[in-house]
Amino acid sequence: MKVNGTPYRSLWWDGDKGELQIIDQRWLPHDFRVQSVTTIQDFVDAIVQMRVRGAPLIGATAAYGMALAMKLDPSNAHMDTAWDVLHATRPTAINLRWALNRCRAALAPLSEVDRAAAALSLAHVIADEDVEINRNIGLNGLKLIKDIAAKKPAGEPVRILTHCNAGWIATVDWGTATSPMYHAHDAGIPLHIWVDETRPRNQGALTSWELGSHGIPHTYITDNAGGHLMQHGQVDLVITGTDRTTRAGDVCNKIGTYLKALAAHDNGVPFYVALPSPTIDWTVSDGVADIPIEDRGSREITHIMGRSDTGEISDVQVTPDGTTGGNPAFDVTPARLVSGLITERGIAPASEDGLTSMFPDLAG
Ligand code: MRU
Repeated sequence: MKVNGTPYRSLWWDGDKGELQIIDQRWLPHDFRVQSVTTIQDFVDAIVQMRVRGAPLIGATAAYGMALAMKLDPSNAHMDTAWDVLHATRPTAINLRWALNRCRAALAPLSEVDRAAAALSLAHVIADEDVEINRNIGLNGLKLIKDIAAKKPAGEPVRILTHCNAGWIATVDWGTATSPMYHAHDAGIPLHIWVDETRPRNQGALTSWELGSHGIPHTYITDNAGGHLMQHGQVDLVITGTDRTTRAGDVCNKIGTYLKALAAHDNGVPFYVALPSPTIDWTVSDGVADIPIEDRGSREITHIMGRSDTGEISDVQVTPDGTTGGNPAFDVTPARLVSGLITERGIAPASEDGLTSMFPDLAG
C-alpha cells in the first residue's frame, strides 16, 4: 500500500545491499523509519521488540532470518539453531512456526552449497504468497461488505469495527482484516471504520495511520466503546485478524478480541475473522486450553508512548510508582462466537468441518 503516495510493502529485499529492509513499526504512526536487518540478532530484536509485528509479517521475517542463517553457515546444526532462536522470539502467532518449518522442510534435503540461494528464494516466495493470500481474503470479504451496503440507503456507509492492527503493515501487503476494507473503498462503497485503540500498545493508531493514508473514513475509539456502539446500532460488522486459529475454529487474537465477540453476539452483529491459511494451527483443537498466550510484561501497561506537542516521542508513566501491570497480549474467542472465517479460498464456517472442507489438502 502507499505511504505518502509511494507504494511500499512492510518488508522488502534490497538486492544491491543484499539485505532485508523493514519498517520499524515502533515509531509509527509518528515517524516512518526504515531499517536494514543484517544479523541474526537483528532479526530476533525486530520480532521481540515488535519492530515487525502481526502474525503473517512475523512469519515472513523469520523466513528471511533463516535465509541469512543459511548464508552464514548452511550446516544442519546451524539450521536447527536458527530455527530455535527465531522460534523463541514470540510464542502465540503460529505463522512463525509455520514459516520456519516450511523452510527447514525445503532446505534439509538440499546439499549445503545450495541452501543459501534456495532459502532466499523461498523467503521471497513466502512473502509473495502472503500478498496474494491477503488480496484474495479482501475479495472474499468484499462480498460481505457489498451485501450489507446493498441493504442500506444509497450513500450510507457500512460501519465496520476492527481491533488491533491486522492491516498491511501486519502482513507483507494488504492486511487481512483491512483487505476487504481496502477493496470495498476502492470499489466505491462508502465505509466508516471504528478503530479500537487496542491498549496497551495502541495498534489501533497503526490502523488509523493506514486507513488515513488510504483515505478511508474512520474514528479511533477506546477499547471499551465497542459494546456501547453495538447496542446503539452503530456497528454493521466486526472484522478482526487472528494470530492462531485452531482446527475447530477457535480464534486467538489480540487481547480484547473476545470481549468484542461477546458484545457482537449479544447484539446480533456479525463477527468475522480474516484468516490466512498459514494462521491455522491444525495440531490444536481447544484454543483456550492449548494456545500459549504471550505475557509482555508490566512496563507496556504502566507506561505509554506518544508524541508531545513539541514533537518529541517518548514514554510517560500512567500509574503510581510501584504499580505492577498485568499484560496477557492475546485471548481466545471460541468458535461459537465467530460468524465466519474469511480465508483466501472463501468464507468458511468457524468449525472443524468448515475448515477441513475449505482446506482438505492442509488439514491432515
Ligand atoms: O502483538 P501484535 O501487534 O503482533 O498482534 C497482532 C494481532 O493481534 C493481529 O490481529 C494478528 O496478528 C493478525 S495480523 C494480520
